[in-house]
Amino acid sequence: MLIASTIEAVREAVATARAHGRKIGFVPTMGFLHAGHLSLVQVARDAGADFIVVSIFVNPRQFGPNEDFSRYPRDEAGDRAQLESAGVDVLFLPQVEVMYPAGAATTVSVSSVAKPLEGERRPGHFDGVATVVLKLFNIVQADIAAFGRKDAQQCAVIERMVRDLDVPVQLAFGDTTREHDGLAMSSRNSYLSEEERAKAPALRRALRAGEEAIAHGIHDVDGIEHLMQKMLAETPGIVLDYLVVIDPETFERPVDFARPLLLAGAVRVGKTRLIDNVRIR
Ligand code: PAJ
Repeated sequence: MLIASTIEAVREAVATARAHGRKIGFVPTMGFLHAGHLSLVQVARDAGADFIVVSIFVNPRQFGPNEDFSRYPRDEAGDRAQLESAGVDVLFLPQVEVMYPAGAATTVSVSSVAKPLEGERRPGHFDGVATVVLKLFNIVQADIAAFGRKDAQQCAVIERMVRDLDVPVQLAFGDTTREHDGLAMSSRNSYLSEEERAKAPALRRALRAGEEAIAHGIHDVDGIEHLMQKMLAETPGIVLDYLVVIDPETFERPVDFARPLLLAGAVRVGKTRLIDNVRIR
């Protein structure tokens, strides 16, 4: 596996691979890798990629002033080993100065799908995500880029950006990889104490309760949201941020139950914020 820390080094490796007829797949991450990240390498391969670039960059621009940028978990050696055994071809590991040299003054800002939920609670977050992802797309110039549906709104924001700015990349989305008790894998799960970790699957249980209600023919947005919130409240010490029924394309309140739906939630357990979602066809 080539470890590249400059834009030129990645571009050269990708250009050589492409000249040899390889199809380039790209998985952007912030590191502290787990099975969910690695599943996206397979998602890119399943979409036809046979030369895989993974980036690890903890992007300061997508963290708010009171968020966890400075304490975001890091494990470069562990990450390298996992990517190596997954057969990844290039690891792009840029320093902040490589991504944001002095004088950088351009931001990509997506409206509509980026406004509610995470966008409302984390001002500037999706501008930071869209800006770094477009930069990474321009650096790597992959044929296929893979993202996880665990971050459903992030997927919608990137899809919107790619369409609106005619970015020549094919997007592939992977399902959420979970722990045995249903908790969505996340680098941030490492913040949880043992006691908090035991409470965390309540978010998934609440979403599942909503899913079951819909399967049983309850087609009432308020009713389902109320039910999910009641289910969450059964676990003390887990604090509701939101639990909502949403249209996965517009990220607005759904107009009918014949179209796909998304049940999306965010909670706090101690100091840790967790998100999860369930898609319903
Ligand atoms: P990060 O949180 O490291 O996630 C990198 C990718 O892994 C994202 O596409 C995310 O949705 C996916 N992912 C995370 N947990 C997952 C799980 N349990 N199952 C499946 N996929 C999962 O998301 C980011 O980094 C950043 O915002 C980034 C896109 C890299 C831009 O900085």
